Amino acid sequence: MSERRLAYLNAMGIEVWVPRDPVAQAIDAVVPVELAEPTIPVGGNTSQLRADTNLPISDLPLDALRTQVAQCTACELHASRTQTVFGVGNPQAEWMIVGEAPGADEDRQGEPFVGRAGQLLNAMLKAVGLERGDVYIANILKCRPPGNRDPQPEEAAQCTPFLNRQIELIQPRLILAVGRVAAHHLLQTDVSLAKLRGSVHRYDATGSPVVVSYHPAYLLRSPKEKRKAWEDLQFARQAIRKYQ
Ligand code: URA
Repeated sequence: MSERRLAYLNAMGIEVWVPRDPVAQAIDAVVPVELAEPTIPVGGNTSQLRADTNLPISDLPLDALRTQVAQCTACELHASRTQTVFGVGNPQAEWMIVGEAPGADEDRQGEPFVGRAGQLLNAMLKAVGLERGDVYIANILKCRPPGNRDPQPEEAAQCTPFLNRQIELIQPRLILAVGRVAAHHLLQTDVSLAKLRGSVHRYDATGSPVVVSYHPAYLLRSPKEKRKAWEDLQFARQAIRKYQ
């Protein structure tokens, strides 16, 4: 292991550790999916029209989609938000990170994962050789739920066409769902994160491969789990490589 990687792992608060089983073995045991070139069947209700445009969401380029999101009043969250939090990063990213919803810092700054959890996410990405600017980061919800409560199903349903269009445009080779809310929403399951980890799943709406890990905010509260998150990132990285 390089000194640089060691330094990143230390920055994440991870003691250096050698996995008992090589990640590649775990990948072989995994639900097989084709990681090459996700197909783009438009899922969900991305074809629905919004009042202020003649184009369906499923036809909007990224800039126009951002504008649509900024104008959205489809659910109650618009009333309490400071601003929408669309997404950030490389529009040609191979990795897309999907979190839950903006928190107070994100609501203030208009960018996902900029608070303490975001700092840890950046460090986690570095630990597998990725800069924040290499990936694309978005959330299930584009507006902050008051008091950081869990997203309501109808709020997630209103926001899903926006996320689906982001995924269609970016065409990531892999989606990393961080946390229970993102994983359960994308995979339409209530199976525990512990059980969902270590497999390559698929997001039905876009056909994209999905790997699941812990939310950085949870890792801040439970630092011992950081090792597992690092394991998940290595798994995701090797999954991308393996199916290239
Ligand atoms: N938590 C999330 O899930 N997303 C953010 O953007 C910030 C915190």
